[in-house]
Amino acid sequence: MNHFRRRAGELYCEDVPLEAIAAQAGTPAYVYSTATLRRHARVMRAPFAGREHLVCFSVKACSNLAILSLLREEGLGFDIVSGGELYRTLEAGADPKSVVFSGVGKTAREMAEALDAGILLFNVESEAELRLLDRIAGQKRRRAPVSLRINPDVDPRTHPYIATGLKRSKFGIPRSRAREAYRLARALPHLDVVGLDCHVGSQLIEVAPFVEAVRELRSLIDELVDDGAALRYLDLGGGLGISYRDERPPLPMTYGRALCDALEGLDLTLLLEPGRVLAGNAAVLLTRVLFRKDADEKRFVVTDAAMNDLLRPALYGAYHEIAPVQRPRRRRETVDVVGPVCESGDFLAQDRELPAVEAGELVVIHSAGAYGFSMASNYNSRPRPPEVLVDGDRFRIVRERESYRDLVRGERP
Ligand code: LLP
Repeated sequence: MNHFRRRAGELYCEDVPLEAIAAQAGTPAYVYSTATLRRHARVMRAPFAGREHLVCFSVKACSNLAILSLLREEGLGFDIVSGGELYRTLEAGADPKSVVFSGVGKTAREMAEALDAGILLFNVESEAELRLLDRIAGQKRRRAPVSLRINPDVDPRTHPYIATGLKRSKFGIPRSRAREAYRLARALPHLDVVGLDCHVGSQLIEVAPFVEAVRELRSLIDELVDDGAALRYLDLGGGLGISYRDERPPLPMTYGRALCDALEGLDLTLLLEPGRVLAGNAAVLLTRVLFRKDADEKRFVVTDAAMNDLLRPALYGAYHEIAPVQRPRRRRETVDVVGPVCESGDFLAQDRELPAVEAGELVVIHSAGAYGFSMASNYNSRPRPPEVLVDGDRFRIVRERESYRDLVRGERP
C-alpha cells in the first residue's frame, strides 16, 4: 500500500502532483510519502502488540534525518551498522536505548562511540569482536550489552548478494560454534550477554525461512539456558520483502503472526530490524527524459537519473516499475531506460515495454525508497539528488541537491 496515485491521469504523491515537485526541486529527485512511511511503521508494529517488542528501522535502507525522526515519532528504534549511522540516529533525536548495532567489522572507535552513547545492544558477529569489545568496555570502565549474532544456516531463497544466513556467508557466528562463543562471552569481564540475534537475508518473499531461523535459535536458547544463560532479547533481523513487480510477499500481519506463533512460550523481548518493507514503496525517483535514441537493435530512453542515483538495477539486475508522470499514452514500445553514466551497466530498465515517452517528459522509478538514495554515489562527478518529503498537500526538501562545491569538499588541489 502506498500513496502514489493518478488523478485525472496525472501522478501524485499524496495530494501533490509530481510535476509541481519537479518544477521546484528539479530532477532527478527522490520523493517520499509521509503517509506511506507512517502507515508502514504502524502496520509493522501491530502484530506484536501482545508482546514486549521493539521494531528497529534498519538505517542503511534510508538514512535521511527527516525520515528517521518521523519513524522515531512512530515509536521505532534503529538498527545501525556504522559510527555514521549512530551519528545520524542521535541527530534525529533517537533514544540511544532504542539503538542496536550490527555488522561484521565494527572498529574500536565505533565501539567506543556506541558505548559512550549508551546503546541498547551490540550484535556481535565473531569471537574476535567479543574480545575487542570487552577491551574497549574495560578501558571505559563500562559494561557492553551484547547479543550474539548467530548464523542459522537457513536458505532465504533470495538474490545471492543479499542472502546472509547461509553457512558460507561472512555474517554471524556459525550455529556449531555458538555455545562456545557464548561461554567465551560470559567469561569476558566487561560484557553482559543478554540476547541472541540473526538476520537471514533481505527481500524474502516467504515466511518459512524466518520460522526456520526461529526454530534454530530456540534450540540454541535451550542449550544456553542449560548453561545458565539469562537472556532478555531475541532479535530476528529484517528481511521482509516487498512487491517490486509481481512478487507476493507475506503481509506484515501474516509475517508477524507466524513469528509470534513460532515464539510461543518464549519470554524474551522481540527485536526486529526491517528496512525495505518500511521504506521501499514509500518513495519514487523522479527523473526527466533527456533524449530518445535509436540504435540498430535497440531503442533507448536517456534519463537524467543514472546508476549513481539508483544502483539496484545495475548491481542486482533489480526490477523497478517505471511510469510516466503525465497520463500514459496508449502507444507502447520496448525500450532500455538508461542514464548518462559512462558504463554499459548504467541502466534503470532493459527491454521494458512502456507507454511511449518523449524528451522533456517526467517519469518515475517506483519502489526506490529503500537502498535508493542511501546507495547513491557521486560517480561521474554527478551531484547526488535532493530528497523531498511530501505530507498531505505540502512538501519540503529534506536534503538539498548537492552542488559542484559539495563534490570537491575536502579536496586539495
Ligand atoms: N539487519 C541486518 C543485520 C541487515 O544486514 C539488513 C540488511 C537488515 C537488517 C535490513 O534488511 P531489510 O529489511 O531491508 O531487508 N542493498 C540491497 C539490500 C542489502 C541488505 C543488507 N542488509 C538491496 O538494494 O536490495
